[in-house]
Amino acid sequence: MTKNNDLRLRRLAAVAPGVASATSVFASKALNAEVWDADGQRYLDFAMGIAVCNTGHCHPKIIQAAKDQCDLYTHTAFQVSPYEPYVKLCERLNALAPIREAKSVLFSTGAEAVENAIKIARVHTKRPGVIAFRGAFHGRTALTSTLTGKIVPYRASAGTGASNVFHAPFPIPHHGISVKDALNGVKALFKSDIEAHDVAAIILEPVQGEGGFYQAPKEFMQALREICDEHGILLICDEVQTGFGRTGKMFATEHYETEPDIMTVAKAMGGGFPISGVIAKSYVLDSTLPGGLGGTYGGNPVACAASLATIEAIEEEGLIKRSQAIGDVMVDRLNAFKANKCLPAIGDVRGIGAMVAFEMVKEKGGHEPDSEVTTKLVTKAHEKGLILLSCGYFGNTIRLLAPLTIPDHHLHEGLDLLEEALKAC
Ligand SMILES: Cc1ncc(COP(=O)(O)O)c(C=O)c1O
Repeated sequence: MTKNNDLRLRRLAAVAPGVASATSVFASKALNAEVWDADGQRYLDFAMGIAVCNTGHCHPKIIQAAKDQCDLYTHTAFQVSPYEPYVKLCERLNALAPIREAKSVLFSTGAEAVENAIKIARVHTKRPGVIAFRGAFHGRTALTSTLTGKIVPYRASAGTGASNVFHAPFPIPHHGISVKDALNGVKALFKSDIEAHDVAAIILEPVQGEGGFYQAPKEFMQALREICDEHGILLICDEVQTGFGRTGKMFATEHYETEPDIMTVAKAMGGGFPISGVIAKSYVLDSTLPGGLGGTYGGNPVACAASLATIEAIEEEGLIKRSQAIGDVMVDRLNAFKANKCLPAIGDVRGIGAMVAFEMVKEKGGHEPDSEVTTKLVTKAHEKGLILLSCGYFGNTIRLLAPLTIPDHHLHEGLDLLEEALKAC
């Protein structure tokens, strides 16, 4: 039996089935855009641990920074003995985020950052309500899965969810929801579900991640800002998937001339180490009581050191510019696949920087989702040596998340493998 198959069987016997894996590739080694499985089979990685390794697998600078920190101390708990890497990382985030006069607080996961962003908004406004959007993904904890706008698999059979959370439609014009529809949806909530003066926050991803890489149009973001200003509501941008160069800016929020009150960050922030944060207006964060925020591991020193090195690598290696160049190559190639009559039907192709996706549809020229062929495409790609991820409210979107450090020849090789996988469908 191969080592991979042996691990598969051991996993079935020992690991909860609720944690699903997109592939059965048991990683044994990874470097930049390449991963090798337990049998030595090589793959190109267009998933990067779900948008985490924007700086590639095992970036030498990040690994060195983590090793150096390990030689000093690995954990004291910031709430017991604080340390410089935490303070320095908050200083960096405050300077980088498109929020004037910001302060930050650090955690370990994206869901923890979102949980705390909502808590901070509730403490500051002394209001209970939160508005999120259909198709959104904010995590798997009780509150964040309630904020998530998709039932199966994230909320199914998990009880009624947290209270005072309401969902409005997210604008996706080619699926029949205009910006006007979405804004009317928010205003309708004020009439039918919760009065505006009881709402603490509106939370959205500037580009929905798990929901299908749908970008919030500029006019939508600006209109939400106006609604928030009118009613004293805080605007939260969840940048857990979009942050750290993925969209061709350090943060996707920079594409809008709109300032959020709070931002959540995680994933690519640590270059592969678990760290997350909430960045917010100082006066908002100053409302929280000492001891009200934190966690044993939040802002772990090794993860802080890795995160500081990640930010430096993004800046030194020009990865934000590279993000746009990668996205341009991908979108051009996908449009060529779409025009190719011999390949299965591709619908909308979209990208913002290197956050690129396409939809599989029933008929060429149409938008009716085809989730079956999407699943098949992911399997065929794995067979050919390309790690791909699907996503989407309709289950028919393929997202491409190559590292921003990918060399050109690997980028083209990955897209060639994708073409072969499409042909095999
Ligand atoms: C936008 C967004 N928010 C929150 C989360 C939750 O992050 P984590 O899985 O680290 O808890 C995710 C994860 O995919 C995400 O994409």
